[in-house]
Amino acid sequence: MCGIIGYWNLKKEAFPILLESLKKLEYRGYDSFGFATLSNTQLFVEKQVGKVSSAKCQELPGKVGIAHTRWATHGKVTEKNTHPHTDCSGKIAVVHNGVIENFQELKINLSKKNYEFLSETDTEILPYLIEENLKQGTFRDAVIKTGSILKGRNSFVVLNSETKEMIAFRNGSPLIVGVAKENTTSEVFIASDIQAFLDKTKKVMYLDDNQIAIIKENPEFYDVKTKKKIEKRLIEIALDAEEAEKGDYAHYMLKEIMEQKETLIRAINQDDKDLMHVAQEINNAKGVFFIGCGTAARVCHTAEYIFSKVADKHVNFIPASEFENYKHFLLPETLVIAVSQSGETADVLDALKIAKQKGSRIISIVNAPESSVDKISDYAFLINAGPEKAVASTKATTSQIAVILLLAYACAGKLREGNRLLVDVAGEVNDMLNPRYDEHVKKLAEKIYQKENIFIIGRGLNYPMALESAIKIMEVSYIHAQGFAGGELKHGPIALIEKATPVIALVANDEVKNEIISNAIGVKSRGAYIIGVAPENNQVFDYWIKTPDVEEVASSIVNLIPMQLLAYHLGILKDHDVDYPRSLAKSVTVK
Ligand code: G6P
Repeated sequence: MCGIIGYWNLKKEAFPILLESLKKLEYRGYDSFGFATLSNTQLFVEKQVGKVSSAKCQELPGKVGIAHTRWATHGKVTEKNTHPHTDCSGKIAVVHNGVIENFQELKINLSKKNYEFLSETDTEILPYLIEENLKQGTFRDAVIKTGSILKGRNSFVVLNSETKEMIAFRNGSPLIVGVAKENTTSEVFIASDIQAFLDKTKKVMYLDDNQIAIIKENPEFYDVKTKKKIEKRLIEIALDAEEAEKGDYAHYMLKEIMEQKETLIRAINQDDKDLMHVAQEINNAKGVFFIGCGTAARVCHTAEYIFSKVADKHVNFIPASEFENYKHFLLPETLVIAVSQSGETADVLDALKIAKQKGSRIISIVNAPESSVDKISDYAFLINAGPEKAVASTKATTSQIAVILLLAYACAGKLREGNRLLVDVAGEVNDMLNPRYDEHVKKLAEKIYQKENIFIIGRGLNYPMALESAIKIMEVSYIHAQGFAGGELKHGPIALIEKATPVIALVANDEVKNEIISNAIGVKSRGAYIIGVAPENNQVFDYWIKTPDVEEVASSIVNLIPMQLLAYHLGILKDHDVDYPRSLAKSVTVK
């Protein structure tokens, strides 16, 4: 959600580097983008509406600069609302990620001081506040003072052409400093995600909440509250820049679906001792809450069924944005398990803050190492799926389910059995992801892509997977898709079924198999076109997508694979940008 990049060096022109880095951050927001560079003591600014990857930009001069790719929160997608925003004198430029919750109050105060607002954004108050605070102190003091009065989760980077300084402030969204040194040349980066500069350096320093970083040859860090300098060591990270590239694939989404051939095996490669230890905590806990947002919330929902079936254990699923309503149940013996790909989702972080305040233990299942969720957790299981760039989550989802399965088996004292099952499932997924299978799913997409509605039904743990399949279809194809528990159809939704309405039944070889088939028969008698995603064919199916006959609890993984492919093909047939669907962002760092 909004991508920030800052670049400092003494030898190279900054603009081409900022442009390349910004393209790598596009998944964070792609409504509009802008740059500010510094040459001598002059600021140069360029802004455009649209995607940075498809734009033609005029190069700006200077060896130092900042850039931003926007996901609109306050104010429409217009050039005026695009970052960077500048102060009245045009000497200060700011790029920002977050939502300033008290911006209206701050804006009124600034208006009283005759500041005129050119945009509808909350961000525009930042350069004016810094300009105002500069009247009483140094640039560094002004940035600290400005950042400290903001409410909400906010990070920003400021360029001052008069003092020729760049300062980053963090209290919320991530900012990471990268340092590349070659002989006598130094290049310093500050970005929302390491991916922005991973091809240039793997040596990083993490900016934590309530800290600022002065971006220069040897970056300096200060605590915002005490104003004391903080010493940080350069950490070498073990990420591969190429992993985050599309390679021969047309889209990240397809690449990431195909990567599930390997990612499941990587996910289950967890330390048995840690799994057993956390399993014991789950077994002894006074209340276990799985929390997440979006697709990760559907994974948490599946966890309820998985723990019930595998470990005979009740765990709760709460969407992270609703977690506050349950805070009265939190005790120090309560376990809160956060599921998050990015580890930066604002609602998840806010929920974890509540859990911390209550003294509850925090466990997480997360993809991004060193993310905020990883850091706040008492223990984090990294799923090791590698960078997931397409907005629609695929490989992270199945990996999260795999880790949850392992934990459930560990709780039941059957970790080895769980491991064996998942190795088999990984093999089955590997076999499924072949061109013939993909072609069969694509043919289905061709049959239904012009439909206005698609319904997906499932029972047991395939109910949350029906909800997840609907999310996938909606986000990339913009076709209205809805998931239902099979048994709920007759209580209202069946009224929506007309002749040839596609209804997809997610079936597993389980005890509710006959019931879901009955539900499919029920809607077929109202004219529905039935698509069965199932290990066995059935006469009720008008179209059958075979899935491997794995154990019921693992059916959530194998049934998701064709649904991900279906969403992808529907999106392509609709001629949409499947990697960057409209109005969405990969990492939602605002509430
Ligand atoms: C956004 C993404 C979803 C994701 C959700 C939670 O809405 O588009 O794909 O499931 O955020 O993200 P997280 O990084 O916490 O898993």
